[in-house]
Parts: sequence; structure tokens; C-alpha cells
Amino acid sequence: MSDFIRVASTGEIPEGRMKKVTVGNQQVLVVNLKGKYYAIGNVCTHLGGPLDRGILEGNEVECPLHHSHFDVTSGQVKRGPATRAEPFYEVKAENGNILVKPK
Ligand code: FES
Repeated sequence: MSDFIRVASTGEIPEGRMKKVTVGNQQVLVVNLKGKYYAIGNVCTHLGGPLDRGILEGNEVECPLHHSHFDVTSGQVKRGPATRAEPFYEVKAENGNILVKPK
């Protein structure tokens, strides 16, 4: 079982913002929604678009390439062409640090 890994300080991801981080060999997107943090895969399950370069609207992120939407609170696809959900990571904030649990 892997332990949580520090990926950023809370100051680096203000409310309504997102950031790409690396957890082991995985690219992870960390999002701050109204002070709560969420983490899903950053690589679009359609053709690999970088979700951190997309648009965050409410709790959905839109891929910059072909505009798939993913729910950042679950990783689920909300709009295609993607059909596979993003991996969903446990994340927590502690003492000003954001920590993600690797898969
Ligand atoms: S790569 Fe993301 S929608 Fe195609």
C-alpha cells in the first residue's frame, strides 16, 4: 500500500484553479473546488490531451483537444468523445501541503 505523497503547497492551487503534478510515474490533475481538493488523471482517456491545459467549469474539466468533459470529483466522463473514466486519486491537505495517494 502506498503512502500519500506531497505534490504541492495549498498556496499553489487557489480556489477554482487546477495544476498538473507528478505522482510516481503518473500525471495527475489536482483541482481546488471551493476549498476542497480533488485529483484525477491528467492525461485524457481519449487521445492523451493534457487536461491541465483545458478549461475548468464548475466541477468539470474540458479537454483542450476534442472537448471531452470529466467530472473532477469522480473522474467520470460527462461528455465524449472520451468513453473511459479518468483514474481517481485520494487527496488531502495537511499543514499547507497537498498530498495525493498513488495508485
Ligand atoms: S484527447 Fe481529450 S478529447 Fe480527445
